Amino acid sequence: MTADHAVPRLPASLGLDRADPELVETISTGLVKVEDLLHAVVRSDIEFVNEAATHLVRAGGKRFRPLFTLLAASVGGKINDHVVAAAAAVELVHLATLYHDDVMDEATMRRGSASVNARWDNTIAILTGDFLFAHASALVADLGSDAARIIAETMGELVTGQMRETVGPVEGDDPITHYLGVVAQKTGSLIATAGRYGGMFSGAPAEHTEALYRYGDLIGTAFQISDDIIDIASPADESGKTPGTDLREGVRTLPMLYALSSLHGPGEPDPRLRELLAGPLPDDEAVEEALTLLRKSPGLEHAVRTLTEYADRARAELVSLPEGPARDALDMLARYVVARTR
Ligand code: IPE
Ligand code: IPE
Ligand code: MG
Ligand code: MG
Repeated sequence: MTADHAVPRLPASLGLDRADPELVETISTGLVKVEDLLHAVVRSDIEFVNEAATHLVRAGGKRFRPLFTLLAASVGGKINDHVVAAAAAVELVHLATLYHDDVMDEATMRRGSASVNARWDNTIAILTGDFLFAHASALVADLGSDAARIIAETMGELVTGQMRETVGPVEGDDPITHYLGVVAQKTGSLIATAGRYGGMFSGAPAEHTEALYRYGDLIGTAFQISDDIIDIASPADESGKTPGTDLREGVRTLPMLYALSSLHGPGEPDPRLRELLAGPLPDDEAVEEALTLLRKSPGLEHAVRTLTEYADRARAELVSLPEGPARDALDMLARYVVARTR
């Protein structure tokens, strides 16, 4: 079958440009299959549903999670149809969360295109997100009840993380511990499942699947920390999203929490920054001012150090896996998660 849509090749930006060429070829072929399946699954005979559901699939995205599933499957086994379906399902769940997340964050840009809520409205974004969740669930149902239970539990974990972020730390919570717990739940959980599925459906022994799961949990947490750094440090033409969205929404991310803490030696944190970070910043000028202060605050570098620690812990999980090009590529992927903030 020839695809009538742009097929993303393995993006060099995911840090795998130096991976084994044969592995890259195998993964690229697998990603084409994932892409075909994604398009087939979100298709609807109702033209409007089709347009809204394919909007962000067509807009692009890194396909980090399906790539990880395919690499995880390649550590000790092969990419088969079940691995491809599992990879597509994980990307679909991710995609659905993006439709909903942009409503919650009132975001106008996603994957370098208009977000669905901006292009249409909140109702369309919420309903289309639900449509994608439904189709992801149907895809996983064909993979058996274990896979279905795993994705259901993962979705529960993910939305719990999103809710805890929305509510913020409760009385007695340390804000940094709260933040790290939230990002593990909202982002680490799904990336961990991506790795677990790769192991499960390639027939890996349980201990390898568990190591892939732990690697995914840590690298997923790192991935969200790097996303939060990028929200402050990177321009829209690199991220495809509007910088400062977390500030605008009043979400206190790790660089902000560190910037507000007194962990950086003598002297109080910048009083103006403290004032700006006291709540949501709806006005563009205040967002710009906070971004400028955060970009030169020691909190940003501190967050990069924490990010590096998580990536290193993830890489340490790889030692229990069989040596080879796929394990090496997972090491490169962990380095990429740090390098993308630079
Ligand atoms: C964005 O994820 C949301 C997070 C969990 C950080 P990605 O950065 O993987 O987004 P796409 O899929 O490439 O658009
Ligand atoms: C959202 O985090 C994570 C999930 C969708 C689970 P963010 O709000 O930081 O994601 P972006 O930056 O909008 O992609
Ligand atoms: Mg968001
Ligand atoms: Mg973000």
